[in-house]
Amino acid sequence: MTPAENTGVPVSMAAPIGVFDSGVGGLSVLRAIRQELPDEHLVYVADSANAPYGNRPIDFIEARSMAMVEFLIGRGAKAIVVACNTATVVAVARLRSQFRIPIVAMEPAIKPAVGLTRSRVIGVLATHQTLASDSVHRLCILYGGKVRILLQPCPGWVECVEGGDLLGVETRRIVQSALAPLMKAGADTLVLGCTHYAFLREAITDIVGPGVTLVDSAPAVARELARRISGHRRTSDPLSPACEQFYSTAPLDEATALLSRLWGKQVVVRPVDGGLDCD
Ligand code: DGL
Repeated sequence: MTPAENTGVPVSMAAPIGVFDSGVGGLSVLRAIRQELPDEHLVYVADSANAPYGNRPIDFIEARSMAMVEFLIGRGAKAIVVACNTATVVAVARLRSQFRIPIVAMEPAIKPAVGLTRSRVIGVLATHQTLASDSVHRLCILYGGKVRILLQPCPGWVECVEGGDLLGVETRRIVQSALAPLMKAGADTLVLGCTHYAFLREAITDIVGPGVTLVDSAPAVARELARRISGHRRTSDPLSPACEQFYSTAPLDEATALLSRLWGKQVVVRPVDGGLDCD
């Protein structure tokens, strides 16, 4: 169903796509979206003041996710991408029942990983909430027939990325300790089941070596988004090139430095004022 059919109100093709995450991890999804959809305006909101979501109670994650989507719709979003696996497993059903624009969400890339493994052992790296979810359980039953699927929580990984420490000694120690049991079990394929972990690729590869494949679902999510908005794509306009806008709940100087670094160019980060508190 197209957005216009869905809502009953005309949707402007020039309206932006709204993307949110518990923090900066969703930039890995934003990058895939920018590659897939070069002409769309994108609005990103990082809830870094409340990251990580992974160990938070379900009610909290749901309330934050609702607030994020309301914020993005307030900025005119014609579609939403939940660029957070944890928010997806906890809140996407409620979001889809409350908001009538297309909502595209994450799914850990277990199916592709099962297709790629030669050792028949794969590891799924994700937060506690994601690994405990019905959707991961369902994927394991669907695709785990002939492959051993090891679910590996990664405590501290999100904090390393939010703190901007992607390759330091402490980050390498934290990454190594989660990967050790997977390497011992012979995993040759690792699913990045949290959008923050894409920023730890180099640290992971340094530890597991180039023979282990890392699988990220961001490109598939971007393709699904393109399909969902196909009737409402913005066309290229040389007078008004596609742009990205960034918002954060974190202190702006910190947020600007980190978002600029991870996005790969200097960006302006705006505060999220009002309307986002859920306490
Ligand atoms: N990027 C989020 C995810 O994909 C991180 C979760 C968290 O904040 O704990 O799950």
